[in-house]
Amino acid sequence: MDKLHTHVLNGRNVTYQLRGSGPPVLLLHAFPFSSRMWVGQLGSLAMKFTTAAVDFPGFGGSQALPEKSSTIEAFAEAAEAVAKKVNANEPWSVCGLSMGGYVAFEMVRRKKLTLRSLVLANTRAVLDTSAQREARLLMIEKVRTEGAAAVAELMLPKMLTPAAGRARRDRAKSWMLEAGQAGILGALNALLTRPDPEPALAHIHIPTLVIAGEHDPISPPAEMQAFAAKIQGSQYLQIHGAAHLSNYEKAPEFENAVKRFLTQL
Ligand code: MLT
Repeated sequence: MDKLHTHVLNGRNVTYQLRGSGPPVLLLHAFPFSSRMWVGQLGSLAMKFTTAAVDFPGFGGSQALPEKSSTIEAFAEAAEAVAKKVNANEPWSVCGLSMGGYVAFEMVRRKKLTLRSLVLANTRAVLDTSAQREARLLMIEKVRTEGAAAVAELMLPKMLTPAAGRARRDRAKSWMLEAGQAGILGALNALLTRPDPEPALAHIHIPTLVIAGEHDPISPPAEMQAFAAKIQGSQYLQIHGAAHLSNYEKAPEFENAVKRFLTQL
């Protein structure tokens, strides 16, 4: 991994990886990962773009927020601060996967950073059902009693298909195990209290690429296609053979799609 850069926001460190030069692109990670999950994209996008991958509070080197202040809005604030530090003059393309997508929706709503385009990967634009909320509350209980590693056990089977192979699965798991308890509990609070992205969809007037994974059990393709249809002029792509972590399981397909999209802007 590249050296982490640090920005201090409201007295707390926010870390990020930065590579390349050209139009700026911000990568927003999923739960419970960090900027590490963008290892492939940091390499390939950097050839043409200034590529920054943020660590949300409590992940990577970023300091956790107090649990109840850990919200999708606070994560958006951290991402915007890093983007402005790296390049305050040009509009940003934002690529968020899952929780990173929720943060991207929030950035659209907040209008604090000028956005050039959006890539919304393996994410959802509807609020949790009561069963999903219940599952999050159970996960919080499990993390409090068993520790942060419980999340990796619960989530790993949804991240990659069985075809991804042992080595890839082990690496993804090691990334998840890096997250500490404060970060995990903070992000679970952010996920539980996330705002409804639906009203933002009609206000997206920038080029948008929606990427789904064929076998994603967390953000099913049909649901993603339905929200893509509500974003005027958006492009929708389903990656064959990918589960939730499509950028990692099918990195070449993901990167080619993102590069093609960003290059045609
Ligand atoms: C993620 O991958 O970021 C999470 O699974 C999102 C969620 O649980 O809603």
